[in-house]
Amino acid sequence: MKKNRIFAALLALVMTLSLAACGGSAADNSGTTTSDGEGEKKEASDIIVGFAQVGSESEWRTANTDNIKKAAEDAGITLQFSDAQQKQENQIKAIRSFIASDVDVIAFCPIVQTGWDTVLQEAKDAGIPVVLVDRGVTADPSLYVTHICADALKEGTSAFEWIDGYVHDQGKTPRGGSDQFQIAILEGTVGSSVAADRLTGFTDAIAASPNAAEYNVVASQTGEYTRAKGKEVMESFLKSDGDKIDILFACNDDMALGAIQAIEAAGLKPGEDIVIVSIDAAKGAFNAMIEGKMNCAVEHTPNYGDLLMETAVKIVNGEEVPAEIEVQEGIFPADTAAEELPNRTY
Ligand code: AHR
Repeated sequence: MKKNRIFAALLALVMTLSLAACGGSAADNSGTTTSDGEGEKKEASDIIVGFAQVGSESEWRTANTDNIKKAAEDAGITLQFSDAQQKQENQIKAIRSFIASDVDVIAFCPIVQTGWDTVLQEAKDAGIPVVLVDRGVTADPSLYVTHICADALKEGTSAFEWIDGYVHDQGKTPRGGSDQFQIAILEGTVGSSVAADRLTGFTDAIAASPNAAEYNVVASQTGEYTRAKGKEVMESFLKSDGDKIDILFACNDDMALGAIQAIEAAGLKPGEDIVIVSIDAAKGAFNAMIEGKMNCAVEHTPNYGDLLMETAVKIVNGEEVPAEIEVQEGIFPADTAAEELPNRTY
């Protein structure tokens, strides 16, 4: 263990920094460290960040990987990158290998929320600060320095609020002779924080709406954030409820794009017979909206890279960082898609 890590571990014992977090929890800044040579600033070019990625399940994830790699290169930070291929055990192995190579900062996007306590404690014991990117964990906030994230609850809420406004503005009526709009939901990776939050945000928004009685969730199942699974699950939804599904809420774009294929194969018009809203707002969704096959995309940016690298430099140099760093996002209805597409970075 380097001198600075011993110093950081000692510092962590005496310094607990509690800052308001948008997720409601406070974290200590136990990873906060100073650079070698007592107060001397450590340059980005001397910093090594280990990043454990989830996999490559979606257009969003590929963009996120590219963004993080580019940000490290631009900042002059050495990046050790590992792709866990959707397996938590692989992410844990990667984090242990980052600890063994004594990186300056460990960052990762946790595949699922639970099961991180032991490995995060190991990082803390080694004096290596940890930054969560995108997804959250249930582990004690003292085990990581900060969480750079979007508000996934709000994304789910925004999706429902947009749908509610749209069906009323368009004067839509339920298709299957029902007095309620029938909603199908394609959920994300089981156990992941963003999947849970988007679903909760959406269903809580229905329950809280003055129009709640007009909606019924007729089907809800994971499509694992992939196009193939989104298509497969939508096919099974259509087999059982094809004549009545009015609305599809897909918890990411890839599942929506897979579902669009299933809807067309069933002889229905996506975007017309079934209103489709998804989360991410990647270029694929914009193209589908321009073709009239999707109605709205709620943004979830993959562009966390620059913020991660800036945060890593601050942490290594002993600067305070908030316990949670939230990024802001937009909502893109289909009628804005053609104009917005050239501005999309992913
Ligand atoms: O954690 C972010 C989610 O994971 C994105 O919405 C999805 O596309 C990705 O695979």
